[in-house]
Amino acid sequence: MSEEIIVPKGLANVVVDTTSIATTGASGNLLYRGYRAVELAEKKSFEEVAYLIINGRLPTQNELTPFKNELNSNMVIDESVLKIMNMVKEKNLMRSIRSMISLYPYKMNDDQSTFTQMEAKMPLLTSYSASSINGTPIKTPKGVDFSQKFYSLITDRENKNWKSFEKLMILYLEHEFNASTFALRVAASTLTDPVSAVTAALATLKGPLHGGANSEVLTYLSGIENEKDAMKFVEGKLEKKEKIMGFGHRVYKKRDPRALFVREELRKIAPTDQKFVAAEMVENYMFEKKGLPANVDLYAAVLMDYLGINEMFYLPVFACSRIFGWNAHYFEQLSNNKIIRPASQYIGEEEREL
Ligand code: COA
Repeated sequence: MSEEIIVPKGLANVVVDTTSIATTGASGNLLYRGYRAVELAEKKSFEEVAYLIINGRLPTQNELTPFKNELNSNMVIDESVLKIMNMVKEKNLMRSIRSMISLYPYKMNDDQSTFTQMEAKMPLLTSYSASSINGTPIKTPKGVDFSQKFYSLITDRENKNWKSFEKLMILYLEHEFNASTFALRVAASTLTDPVSAVTAALATLKGPLHGGANSEVLTYLSGIENEKDAMKFVEGKLEKKEKIMGFGHRVYKKRDPRALFVREELRKIAPTDQKFVAAEMVENYMFEKKGLPANVDLYAAVLMDYLGINEMFYLPVFACSRIFGWNAHYFEQLSNNKIIRPASQYIGEEEREL
């Protein structure tokens, strides 16, 4: 047997493979294919950045148009999937999306076209699953751009703020070897198909320590009216050694550039919003007490709330964006593949007689 290497629990700081898609970087900036994600969010459209993530470079106009058209033309849902969704009546939105994606009758080409179909259908699966859960009529996407259409599917508001939503979608696109992407790469390394690999990633993203954090943020922020409330809340949680959702990060120990960006976006559009003011108070006090920075989920929740998006959609929004990152990782894994199969340190009984 070859020599064993014992790595830290949770694989913290263990470099398991190379990637050229994104890095949280030596500079502490999140880079997508070398560009600062926050700058892309400010200056580029969701489709341009999604194209960049998948193809490694920004599109020309001649490349962007067919990319957008492909997404648009696939943004339709099959009657059979809708029927199954209504039969199953799953009450949890993420479980519904995960199950529906895995059932989806794609032509199994195992190529980019399968990813394009999943990417285009995810916003519809999100919106229609919610309609099925709430017993409300299904919506038709409005607008021309991907994020604009998605926004129209999950709000009843006029679309005047969808650009802020688009910025958040860009910041959720990719984050190197996070848990769901790693799960997808493990699946891809077995040469499974894209639908199965995305199902594994969605199942992993659902956990509260990964994507599920953003929907818990609003609950505590609603109860914070002033500094005293913020202090009481943070102290209470820390005393009980409970985690506060929207804080801490495996990689960003000093600052999460995405959180800073969304915080400043909120300062521009909603400076007096109660939850925004409360979030800043909790952030300041948490940093003072524990030295932990806010992560993107803290301000993402506040932004989505301000934009009239119901809490049930927070995690699906993350998923509908991150699937483009998973797309790039699936093919990167296959381009230089070795099955991911670690070893374990056995701590059970020695070999014994029956
Ligand atoms: N609230 C309170 N304390 C926290 C915390 C949080 N959200 N996140 C980390 N800590 C504390 C830990 O208890 C630990 O304290 P200790 O050294 O006194 O024991 C210390 O900070 C280091 O945390 P650790 O759990 O080792 O960090 P990690 O890298 O393993 O975990 C997360 C990272 C994201 C899983 C973790 O910070 C967390 O659970 N955050 C809340 C969930 C969340 O917002 N997830 C979204 C991520 S984008």
